[in-house]
Amino acid sequence: MNDHSQQTDRHAMGTTTSNGAGVEVVRWTHSELPPSLGELVSEAVLSGHAWASKFHAAWRSGPFTSPGEALFLTFEGNQLLAMAAICADPFVDDATTGRLRFIYVRSSARRRGLADRLVKDCLTLARGRWRKLRLHTDSAVAARLYERYGFRPTVSDPRATHVMDVPP
Ligand SMILES: CC(C)(COP(=O)(O)OP(=O)(O)OC[C@H]1O[C@@H](n2cnc3c(N)ncnc32)[C@H](O)[C@@H]1OP(=O)(O)O)[C@@H](O)C(=O)NCCC(=O)NCCS
Repeated sequence: MNDHSQQTDRHAMGTTTSNGAGVEVVRWTHSELPPSLGELVSEAVLSGHAWASKFHAAWRSGPFTSPGEALFLTFEGNQLLAMAAICADPFVDDATTGRLRFIYVRSSARRRGLADRLVKDCLTLARGRWRKLRLHTDSAVAARLYERYGFRPTVSDPRATHVMDVPP
């Protein structure tokens, strides 16, 4: 699949919502990932976010399509700008706990509210499915964003820096 077919077939790849300013968020359900996702993941890894290198293995083991799970991809025209996933937390044995993972915004597209929008979409999906959400971040910038949405810092858990109780 090339970038052109990504553009023309975008609506076949999942549910799309637009912000009215040319930015679309696709809840990706297609069985193939867009090739440009590899480039986004590479940018993340090369800029020091080693956790991003686990994305493809995580997607292969469960493509974030179960209830309460999603892979959100943000596009502007043909360009993939950002990604975020919400899924069952693989680090706890509790079917009511979900996790925000793989949140990354291309460096050239930051400070435009893209992460804010992705976190909101994840939290909307979480309602009615997960009782608790967890995540791990080593970024003070990202932590501020998550805390704005009700995540609380935690120090007692090696696999999470933030938790939140999902409102019913
Ligand atoms: C953290 C990250 C996802 C934020 O993405 P973004 O699209 O630039 O964030 P937004 O534009 O939606 O900003 C949301 C809020 O985050 C905070 N924020 C984002 N970038 C910031 C910066 N450089 N300095 C200070 N605050 C910042 C602000 O509170 C901002 O709200 P405001 O603009 O109303 O002040 C992005 O910088 C990134 O991908 N970083 C590298 C990967 C990473 O750390 N991912 C998180 C892993 S858990």
